[in-house]
Amino acid sequence: MIEPTELEVVAVPSGAPADLEIVPMRRRHLRGVLRIEVQSYPKPWTYGLYLSELALGGLRCYLVARSRGEVVGYGGAMYIGPDAHVTTLATAPEFHRRGIGGRVLLGLARAAVAHGAENLTLEVRVTNEAAIALYRRFGFAPAGVRKNYYAEVNEDALVMWANDIHAEEYAARLDRLGAELDPTGTAVPDGPVPAGPGSSGEEAR
Ligand SMILES: CC(C)(COP(=O)(O)OP(=O)(O)OC[C@H]1O[C@@H](n2cnc3c(N)ncnc32)[C@H](O)[C@@H]1OP(=O)(O)O)[C@@H](O)C(=O)NCCC(=O)NCCS
Repeated sequence: MIEPTELEVVAVPSGAPADLEIVPMRRRHLRGVLRIEVQSYPKPWTYGLYLSELALGGLRCYLVARSRGEVVGYGGAMYIGPDAHVTTLATAPEFHRRGIGGRVLLGLARAAVAHGAENLTLEVRVTNEAAIALYRRFGFAPAGVRKNYYAEVNEDALVMWANDIHAEEYAARLDRLGAELDPTGTAVPDGPVPAGPGSSGEEAR
């Protein structure tokens, strides 16, 4: 038997960091974003690509989650007509499953509603169970498969949609998710983020 005194007490953090904040992505965040990017995606977006996305202002919404001055997660969406297309979402591996991806997605969904979008959509690797579970929680449902969409890993994409996000029912879902993920209600920006014309032509992932 192990004596209690022999046990090393290791505190395993759970829940989002108390100081977590969700803010619009800026150029100064990109070093932290790229650190997570290369750990999260087989075909990481480059600094230049993020810069061109940020230059598109109101046609895009990019958010970062920060704790202790560090970027611990981020996500983005592009607005196309009535749809907000989630282009990217990632949490630093050491912070997985602490509610950060959920908070970023909540921010993106709220910003999309504030922008006037009617639907949210995205592609996700068919084997990405973590992301699919998160998206289902946000009301996304599978609508089809794009064959070999992720050619770099030879994988299909599941196309998911959350429709009628401007309706009361979806507002109630976001309120519920907000209460679960961000009980203090302090970590999510209220509205859409900056404006500007153009298109970078980058595929969503
Ligand atoms: C997908 C990803 C962003 C989720 O970020 P996260 O910060 O770990 O997610 P959260 O802690 O906010 O999870 C919120 C909910 O999503 C679901 N979820 C998240 N990770 C999960 C997992 N590994 N297994 C099952 N459900 C999971 C759960 O419902 C979870 O709520 P719970 O912890 O209360 O059960 C993260 O796994 C990631 O960065 N993956 C690599 C990049 C990627 O695949 N991005 C998606 C591209 S489409």
